[in-house]
Amino acid sequence: MIDRTTIAFVTGANRGLGAQFVARLLARGAGKVYAASRAGDVVIRDARVMPVALDITDDASVARAVTLAADTTLLVNNAGANLHSAFLARDSMAAARAEMEVNYFGTLRMARAFAPALIASEGAIINVLSILARTTLPAMASLCASKAAALRLTESLRAELAPYHVRVFAALPGAIDTDMSRDFDGPKLSPADVADAALDALSGSTSEVYIGAMAQQLAHGLATARAATQAQLLSLR
Ligand SMILES: NC(=O)c1ccc[n+]([C@@H]2O[C@H](COP(=O)([O-])OP(=O)(O)OC[C@H]3O[C@@H](n4cnc5c(N)ncnc54)[C@H](OP(=O)(O)O)[C@@H]3O)[C@@H](O)[C@H]2O)c1
Repeated sequence: MIDRTTIAFVTGANRGLGAQFVARLLARGAGKVYAASRAGDVVIRDARVMPVALDITDDASVARAVTLAADTTLLVNNAGANLHSAFLARDSMAAARAEMEVNYFGTLRMARAFAPALIASEGAIINVLSILARTTLPAMASLCASKAAALRLTESLRAELAPYHVRVFAALPGAIDTDMSRDFDGPKLSPADVADAALDALSGSTSEVYIGAMAQQLAHGLATARAATQAQLLSLR
């Protein structure tokens, strides 16, 4: 549930899905939205939007951001990196480290820094993962590993924060129409629809939200015919 008491903090808010999280939070009546980006630029002009410069891989940058935004009640960990790398590809070690730094350690760093504010407000966290947190796609092998790590992180944070009445959600979309998926030819979700589906979870009863037909079909396949579903994905190049 979003209303004027909602003070949201969105990472990676300068483009793609993050910019749509900001727009949809404003449309739903949020009181304030911290729009964080590495450049600290303003993407949506609105009196309720506070631009924040933030690199989630940097301790000092995260510490500065949480000082500015200590009134946050909803943290949207949206920032992510996808180097489109297979494990045996030429720079795969560097790609795997970069993805882990952003998708796993960055998300962990943000959750740790904002936990006191979220405990004080009995707030919520939405971690933007991917359906690829549940399986593997060889052409994006290290991305899948980093999102799988972030899913375990999300589950553990949910357990650690539950006694403080802080809810922790995992958003697992399929392909979205943003820069990250510009080379993917298949059907893509609109970023606004994905943001809406993730925000709807706040008033629902499920904490793991599969967004779009692709994610929902894959989740169903993994639950009912895991080997066949996995084999189908492994055949994709
Ligand atoms: N696109 C898809 O098909 C898809 C599917 C499933 C899940 N997702 C997830 O959705 C989320 C948003 O991705 P997107 O599709 O909107 O991709 P995008 O357009 O490539 O945007 C990625 C965002 O993350 C930010 N970011 C990257 N590294 C950062 C860092 N170290 N510190 C702070 N911000 C950083 C980028 O900032 P800069 O502009 O400064 O680089 C950018 O704002 C990601 O978590 C992604 O994994 C995307």
